[in-house]
Amino acid sequence: MSENASTGRNVVVTGGGTGIGRAVATRFAEAGSHVTIVGRRREVLQATAEELRTKYDLDVTPVACDLADPDDVEAALTRLPRRIDVLVNNAGSRELAVGAGPHGVLARWRGDFERNVLTAVLVTESARDRFPEGGRVITVTSVAALRGGGSYGASKAALHAWNHSLAAQLGPQGVTCNIVAPGTVAGTEFFGARLNDAELTRRAGRTLIGRVGRPADVAAAVIFLASPEAGFITGEILQCNGGELLGR
Ligand SMILES: NC(=O)c1ccc[n+]([C@@H]2O[C@H](COP(=O)([O-])OP(=O)(O)OC[C@H]3O[C@@H](n4cnc5c(N)ncnc54)[C@H](OP(=O)(O)O)[C@@H]3O)[C@@H](O)[C@H]2O)c1
Repeated sequence: MSENASTGRNVVVTGGGTGIGRAVATRFAEAGSHVTIVGRRREVLQATAEELRTKYDLDVTPVACDLADPDDVEAALTRLPRRIDVLVNNAGSRELAVGAGPHGVLARWRGDFERNVLTAVLVTESARDRFPEGGRVITVTSVAALRGGGSYGASKAALHAWNHSLAAQLGPQGVTCNIVAPGTVAGTEFFGARLNDAELTRRAGRTLIGRVGRPADVAAAVIFLASPEAGFITGEILQCNGGELLGR
Protein backbone atom coordinates (compact mmCIF):
# COMPACT_ATOMS: atom_id res chain seq x y z
CA MET A 1 0.00 0.00 0.00
CA SER A 2 1.32 3.45 -0.77
CA GLU A 3 2.12 5.81 2.08
CA ASN A 4 -0.72 8.11 1.11
CA ALA A 5 -3.35 5.40 0.97
CA SER A 6 -2.74 4.42 4.57
CA THR A 7 -1.79 7.69 6.20
CA GLY A 8 -4.37 8.76 8.75
CA ARG A 9 -6.51 5.64 8.51
CA ASN A 10 -7.81 4.14 11.74
CA VAL A 11 -6.91 0.46 11.80
CA VAL A 12 -7.95 -2.04 14.48
CA VAL A 13 -6.05 -5.32 14.62
CA THR A 14 -7.36 -7.97 17.00
CA GLY A 15 -4.71 -10.28 18.41
CA GLY A 16 -2.26 -7.53 17.45
CA GLY A 17 0.07 -8.10 20.40
CA THR A 18 1.70 -11.23 19.00
CA GLY A 19 2.45 -13.24 15.87
CA ILE A 20 0.53 -12.50 12.69
CA GLY A 21 -1.47 -9.67 14.25
CA ARG A 22 1.67 -7.94 15.41
CA ALA A 23 3.14 -8.15 11.90
CA VAL A 24 -0.10 -6.73 10.46
CA ALA A 25 -0.17 -3.91 13.03
CA THR A 26 3.46 -3.05 12.28
CA ARG A 27 2.85 -2.82 8.53
CA PHE A 28 -0.13 -0.50 8.95
CA ALA A 29 1.67 1.66 11.50
CA GLU A 30 4.72 1.92 9.24
CA ALA A 31 2.41 3.19 6.50
CA GLY A 32 1.15 5.98 8.75
CA SER A 33 -2.12 4.53 10.05
CA HIS A 34 -3.37 5.00 13.62
CA VAL A 35 -3.35 1.40 14.82
CA THR A 36 -5.23 -0.04 17.79
CA ILE A 37 -4.25 -3.53 18.90
CA VAL A 38 -6.68 -5.65 20.91
CA GLY A 39 -6.08 -8.78 23.00
CA ARG A 40 -6.72 -10.21 26.43
CA ARG A 41 -3.26 -9.74 27.95
CA ARG A 42 -2.77 -6.07 28.74
CA GLU A 43 0.95 -6.48 29.45
CA VAL A 44 1.61 -8.16 26.10
CA LEU A 45 -0.26 -5.42 24.22
CA GLN A 46 1.54 -2.69 26.16
CA ALA A 47 4.95 -4.25 25.53
CA THR A 48 4.24 -4.50 21.78
CA ALA A 49 2.87 -0.96 21.55
CA GLU A 50 5.79 0.38 23.58
CA GLU A 51 8.36 -1.41 21.43
CA LEU A 52 6.83 -0.19 18.18
CA ARG A 53 6.56 3.30 19.59
CA THR A 54 10.09 3.61 20.96
CA LYS A 55 12.01 1.62 18.34
CA TYR A 56 10.22 2.83 15.25
CA ASP A 57 8.19 5.83 16.45
CA LEU A 58 4.95 4.15 15.36
CA ASP A 59 1.43 5.12 16.44
CA VAL A 60 -0.03 2.06 18.23
CA THR A 61 -2.69 2.06 20.99
CA PRO A 62 -3.33 -1.04 23.14
CA VAL A 63 -6.87 -1.99 24.20
CA ALA A 64 -7.23 -5.01 26.50
CA CYS A 65 -10.40 -7.03 25.90
CA ASP A 66 -11.63 -10.60 25.78
CA LEU A 67 -13.34 -10.43 22.41
CA ALA A 68 -15.45 -13.49 23.16
CA ASP A 69 -17.09 -11.69 26.10
CA PRO A 70 -19.91 -9.30 25.13
CA ASP A 71 -19.49 -7.13 28.25
CA ASP A 72 -15.80 -6.75 27.55
CA VAL A 73 -16.49 -5.93 23.90
CA GLU A 74 -19.06 -3.33 24.91
CA ALA A 75 -16.50 -1.68 27.21
CA ALA A 76 -13.75 -1.89 24.58
CA LEU A 77 -15.95 -0.20 21.97
CA THR A 78 -15.75 3.00 23.98
CA ARG A 79 -11.97 2.92 23.48
CA LEU A 80 -11.97 2.02 19.80
CA PRO A 81 -12.02 4.76 17.14
CA ARG A 82 -15.41 6.20 16.14
CA ARG A 83 -14.39 5.68 12.52
CA ILE A 84 -12.75 2.34 11.76
CA ASP A 85 -11.29 2.32 8.25
CA VAL A 86 -9.88 -1.18 8.55
CA LEU A 87 -10.81 -3.93 11.00
CA VAL A 88 -8.56 -6.98 10.96
CA ASN A 89 -10.19 -9.89 12.80
CA ASN A 90 -7.08 -11.88 13.52
CA ALA A 91 -7.56 -13.02 17.15
CA GLY A 92 -8.00 -16.76 17.48
CA SER A 93 -6.47 -19.91 18.88
CA ARG A 94 -6.83 -23.64 19.19
CA GLU A 95 -6.96 -25.48 22.50
CA LEU A 96 -6.04 -29.16 22.29
CA ALA A 97 -5.80 -29.99 25.99
CA VAL A 98 -9.40 -30.78 26.88
CA GLY A 99 -10.80 -33.92 28.47
CA ALA A 100 -12.68 -36.83 26.92
CA GLY A 101 -16.41 -37.61 26.95
CA PRO A 102 -19.28 -35.24 26.23
CA HIS A 103 -17.94 -32.56 28.54
CA GLY A 104 -14.57 -32.65 26.84
CA VAL A 105 -16.21 -32.52 23.41
CA LEU A 106 -18.38 -29.62 24.52
CA ALA A 107 -15.38 -27.75 25.94
CA ARG A 108 -13.46 -28.19 22.70
CA TRP A 109 -16.32 -27.17 20.38
CA ARG A 110 -17.63 -24.36 22.49
CA GLY A 111 -14.09 -23.12 23.10
CA ASP A 112 -13.13 -23.14 19.43
CA PHE A 113 -16.29 -21.30 18.42
CA GLU A 114 -15.80 -18.76 21.19
CA ARG A 115 -12.09 -18.29 20.45
CA ASN A 116 -12.42 -18.03 16.69
CA VAL A 117 -15.98 -17.10 15.72
CA LEU A 118 -17.25 -14.90 18.54
CA THR A 119 -13.95 -12.98 18.71
CA ALA A 120 -14.63 -11.77 15.16
CA VAL A 121 -18.41 -11.57 15.09
CA LEU A 122 -19.10 -9.68 18.35
CA VAL A 123 -16.81 -6.75 17.60
CA THR A 124 -17.54 -6.56 13.86
CA GLU A 125 -21.31 -6.61 14.16
CA SER A 126 -21.27 -4.17 17.08
CA ALA A 127 -19.04 -1.74 15.17
CA ARG A 128 -20.77 -1.95 11.78
CA ASP A 129 -21.91 1.70 11.86
CA ARG A 130 -18.28 2.80 12.28
CA PHE A 131 -17.09 1.60 8.87
CA PRO A 132 -16.94 4.45 6.35
CA GLU A 133 -17.31 4.11 2.60
CA GLY A 134 -14.11 2.43 1.41
CA GLY A 135 -13.86 0.57 4.72
CA ARG A 136 -12.39 -2.90 4.99
CA VAL A 137 -13.13 -5.90 7.18
CA ILE A 138 -10.49 -8.60 6.86
CA THR A 139 -10.79 -11.82 8.82
CA VAL A 140 -8.02 -14.36 9.34
CA THR A 141 -9.17 -18.00 9.14
CA SER A 142 -7.06 -21.06 8.25
CA VAL A 143 -6.33 -23.71 5.68
CA ALA A 144 -7.99 -25.98 8.26
CA ALA A 145 -11.37 -24.53 7.24
CA LEU A 146 -11.10 -26.39 3.95
CA ARG A 147 -9.14 -29.42 5.02
CA GLY A 148 -10.80 -30.66 8.20
CA GLY A 149 -9.28 -29.71 11.49
CA GLY A 150 -12.23 -30.80 13.66
CA SER A 151 -13.87 -28.11 15.75
CA TYR A 152 -11.09 -25.60 14.99
CA GLY A 153 -11.48 -26.03 11.21
CA ALA A 154 -15.26 -25.94 11.59
CA SER A 155 -15.05 -22.66 13.50
CA LYS A 156 -12.89 -21.11 10.79
CA ALA A 157 -15.26 -22.45 8.09
CA ALA A 158 -18.12 -20.79 9.96
CA LEU A 159 -16.31 -17.48 9.46
CA HIS A 160 -16.28 -18.11 5.70
CA ALA A 161 -20.08 -18.44 5.66
CA TRP A 162 -20.43 -15.41 7.93
CA ASN A 163 -18.16 -13.36 5.70
CA HIS A 164 -20.44 -14.00 2.72
CA SER A 165 -23.41 -12.46 4.49
CA LEU A 166 -21.31 -9.66 5.99
CA ALA A 167 -20.03 -8.74 2.52
CA ALA A 168 -23.63 -8.62 1.24
CA GLN A 169 -24.77 -6.48 4.18
CA LEU A 170 -21.89 -3.99 4.13
CA GLY A 171 -21.41 -3.85 0.35
CA PRO A 172 -24.07 -1.17 -0.17
CA GLN A 173 -22.24 1.14 2.27
CA GLY A 174 -19.03 0.67 0.26
CA VAL A 175 -17.28 -1.69 2.66
CA THR A 176 -15.48 -4.82 1.46
CA CYS A 177 -15.23 -7.97 3.59
CA ASN A 178 -12.65 -10.61 2.83
CA ILE A 179 -10.83 -13.53 4.37
CA VAL A 180 -7.14 -14.41 4.50
CA ALA A 181 -6.65 -18.14 5.15
CA PRO A 182 -3.07 -18.97 6.17
CA GLY A 183 -1.37 -22.35 6.13
CA THR A 184 1.26 -23.09 8.77
CA VAL A 185 2.93 -19.92 10.04
CA ALA A 186 5.96 -20.15 12.34
CA GLY A 187 7.11 -17.46 14.75
CA THR A 188 3.80 -17.00 16.56
CA GLU A 189 2.35 -18.31 19.83
CA PHE A 190 -0.21 -20.44 18.01
CA PHE A 191 1.50 -23.85 18.15
CA GLY A 192 3.58 -23.33 21.27
CA ALA A 193 6.06 -26.18 21.73
CA ARG A 194 4.20 -28.39 19.21
CA LEU A 195 6.02 -26.77 16.31
CA ASN A 196 9.42 -28.40 16.84
CA ASP A 197 12.05 -28.88 14.11
CA ALA A 198 10.65 -32.23 12.93
CA GLU A 199 7.14 -30.82 12.67
CA LEU A 200 8.39 -27.72 10.87
CA THR A 201 10.19 -29.88 8.31
CA ARG A 202 7.12 -32.06 7.83
CA ARG A 203 4.88 -29.06 7.31
CA ALA A 204 7.34 -27.33 5.00
CA GLY A 205 7.33 -30.51 2.89
CA ARG A 206 3.57 -30.18 2.38
CA THR A 207 3.98 -26.86 0.57
CA LEU A 208 5.06 -26.36 -3.04
CA ILE A 209 7.71 -23.81 -2.14
CA GLY A 210 9.39 -25.83 0.60
CA ARG A 211 8.88 -23.60 3.59
CA VAL A 212 6.23 -22.70 6.12
CA GLY A 213 4.79 -19.21 6.29
CA ARG A 214 6.02 -16.17 8.19
CA PRO A 215 3.80 -13.57 9.88
CA ALA A 216 4.97 -11.10 7.22
CA ASP A 217 3.53 -13.31 4.45
CA VAL A 218 0.06 -13.07 5.97
CA ALA A 219 0.49 -9.38 6.73
CA ALA A 220 1.24 -8.74 3.05
CA ALA A 221 -2.01 -10.43 2.02
CA VAL A 222 -3.95 -8.34 4.56
CA ILE A 223 -2.28 -5.13 3.37
CA PHE A 224 -3.26 -5.92 -0.20
CA LEU A 225 -6.93 -6.52 0.68
CA ALA A 226 -6.95 -3.29 2.69
CA SER A 227 -5.56 -1.25 -0.18
CA PRO A 228 -7.70 0.96 -2.44
CA GLU A 229 -6.58 -1.23 -5.35
CA ALA A 230 -8.53 -4.15 -3.83
CA GLY A 231 -11.80 -2.21 -3.74
CA PHE A 232 -13.55 -4.47 -6.27
CA ILE A 233 -12.80 -7.65 -4.28
CA THR A 234 -15.32 -8.65 -1.64
CA GLY A 235 -16.74 -11.84 -0.14
CA GLU A 236 -13.52 -13.64 -1.12
CA ILE A 237 -11.09 -16.02 0.54
CA LEU A 238 -7.40 -15.39 -0.18
CA GLN A 239 -5.41 -18.56 0.49
CA CYS A 240 -1.92 -17.87 1.84
CA ASN A 241 -0.37 -21.31 2.24
CA GLY A 242 2.64 -21.79 -0.07
CA GLY A 243 0.69 -24.20 -2.25
CA GLU A 244 -0.19 -26.53 0.62
CA LEU A 245 -3.79 -26.68 -0.63
CA LEU A 246 -4.55 -25.97 -4.26
CA GLY A 247 -7.50 -24.70 -6.20
CA ARG A 248 -9.94 -23.55 -3.56
N1 LIG B 1 0.19 -19.82 13.12
C1 LIG B 1 -0.44 -20.57 12.24
O1 LIG B 1 0.11 -21.55 11.71
C2 LIG B 1 -1.84 -20.21 11.81
C3 LIG B 1 -2.34 -20.90 10.70
C4 LIG B 1 -3.62 -20.62 10.25
C5 LIG B 1 -4.38 -19.65 10.90
N2 LIG B 1 -3.87 -19.01 11.98
C6 LIG B 1 -4.71 -17.99 12.61
O2 LIG B 1 -4.00 -16.78 12.64
C7 LIG B 1 -4.49 -15.96 13.71
C8 LIG B 1 -3.30 -15.39 14.49
O3 LIG B 1 -2.62 -16.48 15.10
P1 LIG B 1 -1.04 -16.48 15.36
O4 LIG B 1 -0.50 -17.64 14.64
O5 LIG B 1 -0.46 -15.16 15.17
O6 LIG B 1 -1.04 -16.90 16.91
P2 LIG B 1 -0.88 -16.07 18.25
O7 LIG B 1 0.47 -15.49 18.34
O8 LIG B 1 -1.32 -17.00 19.33
O9 LIG B 1 -1.93 -14.88 18.11
C9 LIG B 1 -3.29 -14.97 18.51
C10 LIG B 1 -3.66 -13.64 19.16
O10 LIG B 1 -5.07 -13.65 19.42
C11 LIG B 1 -5.27 -13.07 20.70
N3 LIG B 1 -6.51 -13.64 21.23
C12 LIG B 1 -6.82 -14.94 21.36
N4 LIG B 1 -8.02 -15.08 21.93
C13 LIG B 1 -8.49 -13.83 22.16
C14 LIG B 1 -9.67 -13.31 22.75
N5 LIG B 1 -10.63 -14.10 23.25
N6 LIG B 1 -9.82 -11.97 22.83
C15 LIG B 1 -8.86 -11.14 22.37
N7 LIG B 1 -7.72 -11.57 21.79
C16 LIG B 1 -7.53 -12.90 21.71
C17 LIG B 1 -4.04 -13.47 21.51
O11 LIG B 1 -3.76 -12.55 22.55
P3 LIG B 1 -4.23 -12.86 24.08
O12 LIG B 1 -3.86 -14.28 24.35
O13 LIG B 1 -3.47 -11.87 24.88
O14 LIG B 1 -5.69 -12.62 24.09
C18 LIG B 1 -2.94 -13.41 20.47
O15 LIG B 1 -2.33 -12.12 20.42
C19 LIG B 1 -5.43 -16.86 14.52
O16 LIG B 1 -6.76 -16.55 14.18
C20 LIG B 1 -5.08 -18.26 14.05
O17 LIG B 1 -6.18 -19.13 14.16
C21 LIG B 1 -2.61 -19.26 12.45
